[in-house]
Amino acid sequence: MSQQTAKKPTEEDNGIPARTHIYDFLVVSNRLPVDRVGEGEDAGWRRSPGGLVTALAPVMEKSDGAWVGWHGAPDEEVEPFEHEGISILPVPLSAGEVETYYEGFSNATLWPLYHDVIAPPEFHRTWWDAYRKVNQRFADAVTACAADGATVWVQDYQLQLVPAMLRRQRPDLKIGFFNHIPFPPQEIFAQLPWRRQVLEGLLGADLLGFQRPNDASNFARAARRYAGASGKGTHLVVHDPTRHDGRREVRAEAFPISIDTARIAELASRPEIIERARQIRQDLGDPKVIMLGVDRLDYTKGIRHRLKAFEELLTDGRVKVGEVTLIQVASPSRERVEQYRLLREEIEGTVGRINGTFDTMQHTAVRYLHHSYPTEEMVALYLAADVMLVTALRDGMNLVAKEYVASRLDGTGALILSEFAGAADQLKQALLINPHDIAGLKDSITTAINLPPGIAARRMKTMRRQVLVHNVEEWSSIFLARLKEVCP
Ligand code: G6P
Repeated sequence: MSQQTAKKPTEEDNGIPARTHIYDFLVVSNRLPVDRVGEGEDAGWRRSPGGLVTALAPVMEKSDGAWVGWHGAPDEEVEPFEHEGISILPVPLSAGEVETYYEGFSNATLWPLYHDVIAPPEFHRTWWDAYRKVNQRFADAVTACAADGATVWVQDYQLQLVPAMLRRQRPDLKIGFFNHIPFPPQEIFAQLPWRRQVLEGLLGADLLGFQRPNDASNFARAARRYAGASGKGTHLVVHDPTRHDGRREVRAEAFPISIDTARIAELASRPEIIERARQIRQDLGDPKVIMLGVDRLDYTKGIRHRLKAFEELLTDGRVKVGEVTLIQVASPSRERVEQYRLLREEIEGTVGRINGTFDTMQHTAVRYLHHSYPTEEMVALYLAADVMLVTALRDGMNLVAKEYVASRLDGTGALILSEFAGAADQLKQALLINPHDIAGLKDSITTAINLPPGIAARRMKTMRRQVLVHNVEEWSSIFLARLKEVCP
């Protein structure tokens, strides 16, 4: 940590105290990369699963970095702390803000709007006010401790106003933004009553990263149409009166995110995890084929479509209980948001109906698990699964698909992958499906079950090569190198 004083310390303002330490590199995300574990005297923090923090930890250490984000509990102030070499700067949220900024505007307005309006987005002015206020708090937390000319990397749709807020307060910063979820076509984005403000917020960045080239061009089109940007393709120019020539360049480009491939592969080679995979199969009565779905319980993931296809295959007699079992892990998510509550009821009703109809005393059709698991157990599940089902209706990337591929060290296994997930751009040898086409999905499932081993191995080998080279470390270094390049 550097001992200099921040260039422009913010006074007690919007909940953010002035800081005495400053940093050259800051990552800002709604959630911190740590989760609380234990209670009372045993309370502590554990690194959250997921690759982002693994990719950024070395950059943080090298460049005197800090991570700014919410620690996950309402109405609680947590002092800055160090965790595994990373400086953590918690931003507080009140219970009301969790409802309006997080559950409301982020997850009941933006999330459905950006995912093809699969669920109807709700537009409430009070939610928008909270979103602005909380984004300002995150921006203040950064400006209070960013060194002169520091690099700030803002993550995801919860914080789209932060880039412009940072630029207003601190034009010296190099500002990057990465959108982990899709950016919708202009015709859908146009519904947002605050579309201009959101675009202006994003246009505060020097470099905007998206998962797919289409997301970047959707953004660029919207920026030209509703926020007065000019320029060709995804190389935009915006008006900026603080610059001597009155203009500033903004790039919107695709940087497909990936996983910590080496860690997944290392776990997949551990004898105890291989043994755990064997035990999972045995516990299910050693069916010939295990199919697996692993998702947050979210309406974008196409869990209903997958269950429908499986139920019809059972009804048609094309698959039989005892021979084929589907494990569906649905990790709890955003449980206070109405659409998520409704989805849970629907999925659990469907699973109950399928199992009630097809289960025998010895065997189950669907083993449904409404839990989150540590990465070790996830990898054991990947190893136990002959067929992985990723049937998202819309998904920025889908890292589960990449993790499955990374864990199949022996080259076996078949991946069914929705063409509406960003991962379909990189994993072209998967069995690509349109999840809305139930007949096609059923055919792909039976193809996957009966895939000749030689063909399966060839496909898997090519996909494995892809994720081995293009891992999350490469992703973050390419983004940060590009940011350096585009910042004068
Ligand atoms: C998606 C988003 C992330 C988010 C995660 C979990 O992957 O892109 O920004 O953190 O879902 O959702 P949650 O609402 O629990 O943070």
